[in-house]
Amino acid sequence: MLLSFIFHLVALASASVLHRRQQVNQNPTVGGDPDHGWKAFPQVNDATAYPSWVVNDGAQLPVYQTSGLNNSEVTRAVIVLPARPRDCWYYWNVVNNALYNATFHDSSIRREDISIMAPCFFTQADMDAGATGDDVLLWGMTTWIDGKANILPSSVINFSSFDVLDALVSYYMDTQAFPNLNTVVVGGHSAGGQMTQRYATLRKSTENDDRLHFWIANPGSLCWLTAERPMPNSSCIDPDKYKYGLESNFPAYATSDTNRLGRDGIVSRYIGRNLHYAWGTADNGPGDISCEALAQGRTHLERGRNFVAMLEKLTGGIPALSTVDWIEGVSHSNEGMMNSEEGIDKLFRYASNATARNVNVSSAAGSRSSSSPYVTPSQTGDVMKTKSLSFIFILVLPLVFHVII
Ligand SMILES: *[C@@H]1O[C@H](CO)[C@@H](O)[C@H](O)[C@H]1NC(C)=O
Ligand SMILES: *[C@@H]1O[C@H](CO)[C@@H](O)[C@H](O)[C@H]1NC(C)=O
Ligand SMILES: *[C@@H]1O[C@H](CO)[C@@H](O)[C@H](O)[C@H]1NC(C)=O
Ligand SMILES: *[C@@H]1O[C@H](CO)[C@@H](O)[C@H](O)[C@H]1NC(C)=O
Ligand SMILES: *[C@@H]1O[C@H](CO)[C@@H](O)[C@H](O)[C@H]1NC(C)=O
Ligand SMILES: *[C@@H]1O[C@H](CO)[C@@H](O)[C@H](O)[C@H]1NC(C)=O
Repeated sequence: MLLSFIFHLVALASASVLHRRQQVNQNPTVGGDPDHGWKAFPQVNDATAYPSWVVNDGAQLPVYQTSGLNNSEVTRAVIVLPARPRDCWYYWNVVNNALYNATFHDSSIRREDISIMAPCFFTQADMDAGATGDDVLLWGMTTWIDGKANILPSSVINFSSFDVLDALVSYYMDTQAFPNLNTVVVGGHSAGGQMTQRYATLRKSTENDDRLHFWIANPGSLCWLTAERPMPNSSCIDPDKYKYGLESNFPAYATSDTNRLGRDGIVSRYIGRNLHYAWGTADNGPGDISCEALAQGRTHLERGRNFVAMLEKLTGGIPALSTVDWIEGVSHSNEGMMNSEEGIDKLFRYASNATARNVNVSSAAGSRSSSSPYVTPSQTGDVMKTKSLSFIFILVLPLVFHVII
């Protein structure tokens, strides 16, 4: 009988040692590929898939958005931009998993507060293969990345991918619809980081800029702010044309502003925005091997170091509202960047001073975030369970042995 009591006790103890596990949803698998077109627009756990979200009069495109939230309670939105393969479902899912990670470690970050949206910039190949209908905005293979106009449907003329972003940002910034929303983050990795940085450069409106943040992770290249390049090559004819620089070749979306403001005006508007750069210190791939990209550096990381060196040389140094994170040991990995402490901080926690509510604004511009600001073990279930386990061993077991003896 005593033995059976002990066995029960051991069973109880091992049940209580089971660790609370961080939820990680599988990425959806979809037929097709980026070159021949995607064949489906899959459902994604925790998201609502909208095949044709209305962007503007007559213009629609597919998006994913967190389902089941109460808009009155949403305090933050993360608009994640796809990378080159355009598989927006995957990007939505990775951000959602990073949010599970964030809430698992920091109970002050709440899933109910954060709406994630992923717009999908599809091509004609995707329409032909079956991912989307013929009523949505479509682009060329990579033309959505730097803000060029749609190619279809023919009923919508000259609709820039940046017009789409303007509409999605406005949707969340509307204080009637989202009365408690204080921060919108537009961000992405690789080509998504490139698009984010070009959008931050050319975005027309400055309305709500104090609440709008940009997260630029491992971009293949950058829109350089000055005309000089760290690794010039005389055989590269025009390294400063957009999307690599600010000399010429702007998309129709921006030409009235670039004409009116000139380089200085565009640069000063850009550096006045909340810009968060992140590079993995192992992202040593060359990526883009055009001469325009190589003039910025040989690898993603080198382009990043050179860009930051350029920022440091600006009058006043790194702009006050910019931050730079070097993510130790991470390569060209979307998951690695988004799940890093710094990535989690910029996506889900960081807020502007003016609008910060219940949040600690991270360290000053240009520095790496201090280590592990968000792990608060005393609030996790694991620790509670470990404590109750020790309680059993310290108090109960001696009693049991006492009885046996
Ligand atoms: C949404 O949240 C608001 C504010 O907390 C609350 O008053 C309202 O009842 C909620 N709506 C629903 C449908 O739960
Ligand atoms: C400059 O570009 C040419 C042509 O792409 C290349 O052959 C050469 O190696 C480059 N020079 C340097 C110094 O990178
Ligand atoms: C669309 O853009 C092209 C190129 O920028 C321009 O020539 C054309 O006039 C525009 N069409 C309309 C209807 O705005
Ligand atoms: C969760 O975040 C922590 C801290 O950044 C990281 O070390 C860990 O690898 C992440 N977990 C997953 C499953 O990505
Ligand atoms: C935040 O506000 C404090 C006090 O108003 C100010 O000293 C500090 O420079 C601000 N930080 C940023 C990043 O704007
Ligand atoms: C913010 O940080 C300061 C100093 O580290 C700390 O004293 C304060 O409690 C923090 N506030 C919040 C809301 O976490």
